[in-house]
Order: sequence, then structure tokens, then C-alpha cells
Amino acid sequence: MSRSAHPAGPRHADVLPEGHYAAPAEDLNALDPKVWAHTVARDADGVVTVGGLPVTQLAEEYGTPAYVLDEADFRDRARAWRTAFGADADVFYAGKAFLSRAVVRWLDEEGLNLDVCSGGELATALAAGMSAERIAFHGNNKSPEEIERAVRAGVGRIVLDSFQEIVRVAHIAQTLGKRQRVQIRITVGVEAHTHEFIATAHEDQKFGIPLAGGQAAEAVRRALQLDGLEVIGIHSHIGSQIFDMSGFEVAAHRVVGLLKDVRDEHGVELPEIDLGGGLGIAYTSDDDPREPHEIAKALTEIVTRECEAARLATPRISVEPGRAIVGPTAFTLYEVGTVKPLDGLRTYVSVDGGMSDNIRTALYDAEYSVALVSRASDAEPMLVRVVGKHCESGDIVVKDAFLPGDLAPGDLIAVPATGAYCRSMASNYNHALRPPVVSVRDGAARVIVRRETEEDLLRLDVG
Ligand code: LLP
Repeated sequence: MSRSAHPAGPRHADVLPEGHYAAPAEDLNALDPKVWAHTVARDADGVVTVGGLPVTQLAEEYGTPAYVLDEADFRDRARAWRTAFGADADVFYAGKAFLSRAVVRWLDEEGLNLDVCSGGELATALAAGMSAERIAFHGNNKSPEEIERAVRAGVGRIVLDSFQEIVRVAHIAQTLGKRQRVQIRITVGVEAHTHEFIATAHEDQKFGIPLAGGQAAEAVRRALQLDGLEVIGIHSHIGSQIFDMSGFEVAAHRVVGLLKDVRDEHGVELPEIDLGGGLGIAYTSDDDPREPHEIAKALTEIVTRECEAARLATPRISVEPGRAIVGPTAFTLYEVGTVKPLDGLRTYVSVDGGMSDNIRTALYDAEYSVALVSRASDAEPMLVRVVGKHCESGDIVVKDAFLPGDLAPGDLIAVPATGAYCRSMASNYNHALRPPVVSVRDGAARVIVRRETEEDLLRLDVG
């Protein structure tokens, strides 16, 4: 990613390592639609609104920090994926990105399926009334209890992740007098990263069964022999926050290669392939994600071409986007507590949350944007680091950003694109109370996940 120092000479510009810091937008009051939810705007008073509601009102009513989720945007993005892939393919929303009963109902209404990867996610999906046939159950170490629950519920597919699991699921299904539809998750030997694509022997990881050395073929061989299983296809997930489609191209090529080997050996054409999730979103203005229709077109073309070359009927394709649907739909609203300029360095802005509501910066060195949202300001930009209130110096929310130089305690700032992997990875570190998720739509707000209370914390502490 290329960055440059601010041409206008922000405070502390003299110490910026050249080419290292993002230039502030021309106007710090501007809200780049790439990183903010669709209905976010600044009103005539300079206050940011979402779903028609000013953030100042949301902060007053629901407190800070809070995740604010734009329901219309969520539905738009879900629908765009569904429409892009059409009736001959399936879109499974990856619940690990963020899951709640309201979200499950929106997905249901928009015609998406759901990928769950734990008993807890399965329970949430079922509690919200999602039909079990539309659920895929993932995980590299599903417990026998989880498997039994999924099979009993009648989930549409279980994605098998190891040789032991092939036997385990077959046994449980058979004991229950069922034949479980399954996919086999394989590792195709590619790893995709943001902005780069590395073709490596990425079998060195806990997920999936390696294609290399014939292990995946052996897994299919074994699964086809077991009465408790109906093998419907092959699954591949190559990574996260991917912009480059070439990783999917290699993956599709190798998955189709396996389908061909299976056909040649067993005379069986497996009817489905799942290419996983991992499509990138814009966290900052530097990121340029693809639209769902472009992704659908590219994936469909790749699979069709590969199948034609292998003389196979094109299987039904499924994908599992999580971040690309929910990520951009929410922002985290914080109140500024302290503003601490460190001479010759930068200004530390402390907010009332931190690594407990967004661990991604500390864990992955993730980049985020930030904006002053409770008012507009024409003050000179200042280089800031937005930090939390936790007892840890790595408690950073936004590593390098520019905010107006007149930022003061009591101001509200918001970090966009926190819909995915923030609430779902939130913790109680320092006994922080996890923030609520407030959804807004058409001028109305409602809490879909409430704020934790001290009673919630003490409920688990049995004294
Ligand atoms: N399908 C499978 C099998 C997956 O393992 C994942 C993500 C997805 C779909 C959805 O990927 P998405 O479209 O949301 O990128 N905590 C990390 C991301 C971990 C993703 C794990 N698997 C983060 O915050 O970036």
C-alpha cells in the first residue's frame, strides 16, 4: 500500500518517516463511501447520521462504545450476493463474522444460507428459525455432541475436515438412522493474502485434508464407502481479505481436478463445489474491493471453463462470504476520553473501548480509518493513534490516522468497517463489558445484541 505524508504539513509532519503515513483526505469531514455503510452521511450541522439518525442521539440513548449496524446496507449487500450468484448457486453467509438472531432472520428473508462453525452458532441459527437444510456446519474439531445435534437437526451439509471426522460423522448419522450430506474440505496448496498471492504448499495448517500426496482422494474414497454419508462435493477456502482472484482460479482448477479424478476412479460426478469466503473489503480508502457481481462472474467462468476442459458437468457452486457482507455495514462509535499530544511524535487519543471490542489491530496489524462524527471541524489535521482504555500498550484501535487538531474529550469518533470479526471476537479483557450492537433503519434504532452488564460478568463468577 502506498502512503505519503500530508502535503499541507500536518502537526508532527517533520518526524513522519517518509512515505509511511496515510495522507489525510482532502477534507477530514468527508466520509468515503467505500469504507462507510451506505446510509452514513453528515447533516447540515456536521453531525454524522446513519439510517437517518444522528450519532449523537444514538450515543445518548445507547451509550458508547457501541457497534452501529446499518440494516438496509446489510440487506443490500446480502441481496447483491444472492442476485449475483443467481438460482444455480448458493450463498452461505459465514456466521463467524457476526451472528445474532436478527441477522439470521435478515439472511433468511434475503434468501441466503448460513455457514456455522460451532455449536453456539448452530444454536443461534436454529433459535432464530433458520431452516436446518440451509445450514452448513464447519469446524476442524466438531465434538460428537455438536455433530449429533447437527445431524438430528437435519443440517444441509457437514463439511468434513479430517479422516477421523469422516468416520465419526458416518457413525453418528448411521446410529441415528440418517444419511448425512457432506462436503470434504481440502487444502489445495495455495494461500491468499491481502494484496498478494503466494502459491505455496500451504498444507501446513490445521484446516482441511491436503490434496497433495493423494490424501484428499483417499478421503473421498473412504467417505464414498460409508453408508451414513452422502458425499455431495468438495470444499476449499483459501484465506481472508483477498482482492486478487488468481488464488480462486488456482483453487478451482485443483478442486475440479479432484472431481475429475473421482469421476475417473469411482464413476461418480460429485454435484457441488464450495469455494469458501475470504473476499476483501475496504478498511481504508486505499482498498479496492470487487463487487459481488464481478466475483460471481469470475468464479462461475473459472469453474465452467475448468469443468469443460475436464469434460465434467458444471457442479453447483457455493460461496461463503462473511466479512464482505457484514464488514462495511457497521461502525464502532466511541467517546474520546483523553487527547495526549506527545511532542515530536503523535497525539494519543484514548477512547472508551479498545482491544476488547476490536482485537484485529493488535492481532493482525489491521488498518482502520477513523472520523470525528459528532461535529464537523475545519481545524488542521493532526496525526493520531487511537487507543483503548485497557491495561496494555498494544491496545491500539487505529494505528495511524489523521483527525482534526481541535479534537477534545467528549467528542464522538467512529471507526468504520467494524461489522466483521469485531463483536464476534470481542472479549472481557480487564472485565470490560462488551458493547451492544444497535441496528438502525429508516429513522429507527433497536438493540439486537445488548450491552453486557456487571451482573453478566458476575453471573459466571460463582464465588
Ligand atoms: N468459510 C470458511 C470455511 C472460513 O474459514 C471463513 C473464515 C469464511 C468462510 C469467511 O471468511 P470471510 O469472507 O469472512 O473473510 N478473524 C479473522 C478472519 C478469520 C476468518 C476465518 N475463516 C479476521 O478478523 O480477519
